Amino acid sequence: MNFIAEQEKTLSSEQLKYGLLSRLLFWTMDVIYGKERSLSKFKVLEVIARVPYQAWESVAYVAITHTYREPHFARRIFEFVKESRDQQDNEQWHLLILEELVHKKGIKESFIRHRVVPQIIAFFYYHISWILYVIHPALSYRLNAHFEDHAEHEYMKYAAEEKCLKDEKYQGDFRKEYGTFDSLADLFRKIGVDEREHKNHSLNRIAHARF
Ligand SMILES: [Fe+2]
Ligand SMILES: [Fe+2]
Repeated sequence: MNFIAEQEKTLSSEQLKYGLLSRLLFWTMDVIYGKERSLSKFKVLEVIARVPYQAWESVAYVAITHTYREPHFARRIFEFVKESRDQQDNEQWHLLILEELVHKKGIKESFIRHRVVPQIIAFFYYHISWILYVIHPALSYRLNAHFEDHAEHEYMKYAAEEKCLKDEKYQGDFRKEYGTFDSLADLFRKIGVDEREHKNHSLNRIAHARF
């Protein structure tokens, strides 16, 4: 993968027009964690990022319970569950990689701001995600597409602006699961590409607005 080209692709593309809920979320994060991009702030982003996939998964399981008498329909739902789980796992690797980097760099974090508050935000975000999904799946996908679009741009901007990242090797413990990269800059670009894929997936779901 040409990571520089991927970064340019994102940075030269326009961001989506965010709705009220996503702007409120980004604003809250800026107020609590500062406007500046940082590893600790990305970690909060990743705690929240897994939540819509968890919400969709649990809604889908309820739906399977109600539809297993129509096995073909139930199977379609189950395929959707598997996709949600893959994306959730992908977000999980992002979170673990960031957590490891924060540890290795000895970055000081506050228990309240970096442990408790992200869980509170994630709690609300989880409930918003499933309520929107129940009202209409497209609403929940749209919120997630905005979230992922924002994440994609944040990671690519971070890789571009933090010049020292290109000279730092990625030697984390998750290389076997997530891949090897010549530099931390490329690692962040890969995470940015993942976020773009998550976004496109949600946009695609809006187009079909079904399970
Ligand atoms: Fe992520
Ligand atoms: Fe994502």
